[in-house]
Amino acid sequence: MNKVRQADLGTPAAKGGETVRIEIDGLPATVTAGTSILRAARESGVEVPKLCATDSLKPFGSCRLCLVEVEGRKGYPASCTTPVEDGMQIRTQTEALAKLRKNVMELYISDHPLDCLTCSANGDCELQDMAGAVGLRDVRYGFDGENHLDAPVDASNPYFQFDASKCIVCSRCVRACDEVQGTFALTIEGRGFESKVSAGISEDFLDSECVSCGACVQACPTATLMEKSIVEHGQPDHAVQTTCAYCGVGCSFVAEMKGDQVVRMTPYKDGQANKGHSCVKGRFAWGYSTHRDRVLQPMIREATDQPWRPVEWDEAIAHTAKRFREIQQEHGRKSIGGITSSRCTNEEVYVVQKLVRAAFGNNNVDTCARVCHSPTGYGLKQTLGTSAGTQPFESVMDADVIVVIGANPTEGHPVFASQMKRRLREGARLIVVDPRQIGLVRSPHIEADFHLPLRPGTNVPVINALAHVIVSEGLVDEDYVRDRCDVDSFEAWREMILKPENSPEAVAEVSGVPAEDLRAAARLYGEANRGAIYYGLGVTEHSQGSTMVMGMANLAMATGNIGFSGCGVNPLRGQNNVQGSCDMGSFPHELAGYRPVQDDAVRSSFENHWGVTIDPEPGFRIPNMFDAACAGQFKGMYIQGEDLAQSDPNTQHVEAALSSMECVVVQDLFLNETAKFAHVFLPGTSFLEKDGTFINAERRINRVRPVMKPRQGKDEWLITQEIAQAMGYLMDYGNAAAIMDEIAELTPTFTNVSFEFLDRVGSVQWPCNENAPMGTPIMHIDQFVRGKGLFIETDYVPTEERTNRRFPLLLTTGRILSQYNVGAQTRRTQNNVWYREDLLEVHPSDAETRGIREGDLVSLKSRKGEITLRATITDRVQPGVVYTTFHNPETGANVVTTEYSDWATNCPEYKVTAVQVTPATHRSDWQHGFDRRAEEQGKIIEST
Ligand code: SF4
Ligand code: SF4
Ligand code: SF4
Ligand code: FES
Repeated sequence: MNKVRQADLGTPAAKGGETVRIEIDGLPATVTAGTSILRAARESGVEVPKLCATDSLKPFGSCRLCLVEVEGRKGYPASCTTPVEDGMQIRTQTEALAKLRKNVMELYISDHPLDCLTCSANGDCELQDMAGAVGLRDVRYGFDGENHLDAPVDASNPYFQFDASKCIVCSRCVRACDEVQGTFALTIEGRGFESKVSAGISEDFLDSECVSCGACVQACPTATLMEKSIVEHGQPDHAVQTTCAYCGVGCSFVAEMKGDQVVRMTPYKDGQANKGHSCVKGRFAWGYSTHRDRVLQPMIREATDQPWRPVEWDEAIAHTAKRFREIQQEHGRKSIGGITSSRCTNEEVYVVQKLVRAAFGNNNVDTCARVCHSPTGYGLKQTLGTSAGTQPFESVMDADVIVVIGANPTEGHPVFASQMKRRLREGARLIVVDPRQIGLVRSPHIEADFHLPLRPGTNVPVINALAHVIVSEGLVDEDYVRDRCDVDSFEAWREMILKPENSPEAVAEVSGVPAEDLRAAARLYGEANRGAIYYGLGVTEHSQGSTMVMGMANLAMATGNIGFSGCGVNPLRGQNNVQGSCDMGSFPHELAGYRPVQDDAVRSSFENHWGVTIDPEPGFRIPNMFDAACAGQFKGMYIQGEDLAQSDPNTQHVEAALSSMECVVVQDLFLNETAKFAHVFLPGTSFLEKDGTFINAERRINRVRPVMKPRQGKDEWLITQEIAQAMGYLMDYGNAAAIMDEIAELTPTFTNVSFEFLDRVGSVQWPCNENAPMGTPIMHIDQFVRGKGLFIETDYVPTEERTNRRFPLLLTTGRILSQYNVGAQTRRTQNNVWYREDLLEVHPSDAETRGIREGDLVSLKSRKGEITLRATITDRVQPGVVYTTFHNPETGANVVTTEYSDWATNCPEYKVTAVQVTPATHRSDWQHGFDRRAEEQGKIIEST
């Protein structure tokens, strides 16, 4: 893509298949019924002038620039608000229209600073374009009268400014905030000449409700709302289409470039996941890629207390290979392993698991998805037959009842949240199951029908209680179950679910959710025409994570809510490529496409292609690697883009394991916490330098295209390939496309996929093969992937992590909109203006009994460790529950989390830790240790 500006057809596309025939300026056209005249004209190549209309917003009809003439009608209707009718004859260019439009423009321009040559929007301003389009040559009214030319500039937002002197009060920004983002932060204040855009009463943008999504900036036709990067660097000269590297929504973007510098990221209108919208991270928080902290040269050292020695790539690769071979010779083939990253491309992930299997000769490969969504893979595979969500995001627009369980979409998956909120404003009903009052429970124009504030760790009894009501009150879709599901398993499940311990009354005792709310919520979902379940880490990161995933699948099958638009069981994946890293064979027991490494036929298909023998025994999972390391049996680790020391539970155990290894190789952008334990540092590439694909939460394979060359001099897949070669295995890809070709050849769900195909069609959702040449938006349409849907009994086995007198509170964790996971990227951007530190949310009653006030430093202590952080007092959390985020390494949130994990997948139980909170006067011992290590590393880096 070289064109920078994306086409604007003026009003949204009409829905439906019916067409009408019209004539525009004498030329015949066939258009979808309900299309506006403005859009119909633009679709036919006739540019009717417009200002207040844009195709991402409903027509508004305020500027009167788009007037047209319609045969047989009086006057001059606004083309943006007038739908086409069969046989309509429209004139867009007449003398009368030209005069009217010129008059309109004259009024606008008479109150506009005519500083076009020095304006940041010069060349990309619709007002300027329209003045040209209507042929405005002079303005009869001078600037002597009342005007807005001295209106102030609000530059409070770190990423964009609001220059009120240039505002034409077209209201596009206000409507974008309402309709697209759903935040309702802006209003038009005052009337007539006094009317102006306002972000709140006497508030600037930064202090307002604004969440900095940038939709208003994108919608603004003038330089009023403008990115500061454009103000500073000027307009772009070319553009590259790529994919956001933050969350699992997988928004498509157009990287607008000036030379090799990014000057703006604009959401791609035809991006299937985001349809032209974005959040603050994707649109604005890309500055980390050129942050001064980035390491651009490989480094090695013999021991972790020694300075790093910057070396050339050849030496770093030869050294890595030599150390891994030496360790294997001394400690055995299985003494080393690798971790793949959900932040990297599929191609980069695939070569790392291949390095482990083909060059290391074992299956000791795991991925960071282990600690987030591994129960999703297991639970959905068991019940439905495939390890992935069932729907495309846009399916939510057909849902009647939406159930959000253990997810906080407005913070974690903001662009999908905006879409969901749109559907909720249209009238869909909402059930939120979460220990905390997340934003969705009550936000502008949205109120959940039910918020079930369960005690952390009681998801399974709650889902069982909902199922109990559905079964006992005759809300099961018997026909669906009989036709589509394994009936024996259903009968066994029904018997289990009807047990008294699963009744709402019994579960109310365990979960703290009133029985009548459980009953009413169950009826709402059970009676829905189309009920959709969306869930997140608040489901998976429990010792019963897999049980809960299966519980949700059971419920959806029992009510006939899988296989159609508007329903399904949908994991909201945390990182950009969690789905892909799992798909690529990153688990120790599975090759690409979730096929067991123990299966001879599967293994031999890879063996034939790779020219090696693959170990038939599954390898170590991440926690097994740590345990084996502490036991002295696991000595070397290749860690691709994951900060294990910060993100894995029970930090002291992780640090002990990393310290005991002889060769820890970290491939990352920054010297992260794990790098403090590393012997080799291989600099990685940011998404702006990558060529490959990501797969989002809806199984969508999206292209990631490089907008600049790798800043450290080497593609990440090539680093891995060269290590494999140096270890004696001939890996020989010429480019990233060749890696995808091999993935497609060896993975039945990817058969049709190639870079060339994706470049041609945009994006596809797997499976994409001979049965589904253009991909599969909705899974399990006629039958489940496994054949008959399997009900699995979901008896509740409580976690062993219990509260007692010493640890009477339950800690649960989550994240905030402006930051991303361990914060390695977002903490190196201006997103920090919305976040200074991780805070501990404490309910007022718990705070009062402990003498804790707002902002106090408190000690958070569990059976595993102690940290200190500041408290904030809020009733977002219920009494007995405390909550924090984990974005700052200094907080050490995982110092207190336990080693309890999901019974099936070892996904850590981050969401339930028994703790005590007390006022603190000084930082914890762990944090003193953290400071000491940081200081030592600082000295080491300085001497490097
Ligand atoms: S940036 Fe987003 S949230 Fe803020 S005012 Fe604009 S549209 Fe609304
Ligand atoms: S700020 Fe821009 S979009 Fe908003 S009313 Fe003014 S000109 Fe229109
Ligand atoms: S919603 Fe997710 S994928 Fe989209 S821009 Fe934000 S962080 Fe990126
Ligand atoms: S574009 Fe139609 S009235 Fe403004």
